[in-house]
Amino acid sequence: MEAANAAGYYWPEGCSRNGECTNCAMDVIAGIGRLSRMGRYERANLIRQRGRSSVEDPRLRLACQAHIEGDIVVAKRGVEAHS
Ligand code: FES
Repeated sequence: MEAANAAGYYWPEGCSRNGECTNCAMDVIAGIGRLSRMGRYERANLIRQRGRSSVEDPRLRLACQAHIEGDIVVAKRGVEAHS
């Protein structure tokens, strides 16, 4: 999310990056091993906002909560260039 913002893209968010709204959720396409493990807080909020099935796929992560430890590729609806 920060990399996208730095490159001039808007990344949807809604809770000041507190991990509560899940608006920043992304699908990890490649490099999932270079993300921190999902913590209890992230997991609990994904379940609360998107249902229990949301945490069955490890590729769904909150951009504001996952710590990136290398290059990854993600998909995110709603990302657009700042005008
Ligand atoms: S910005 Fe709200 S959960 Fe990430």
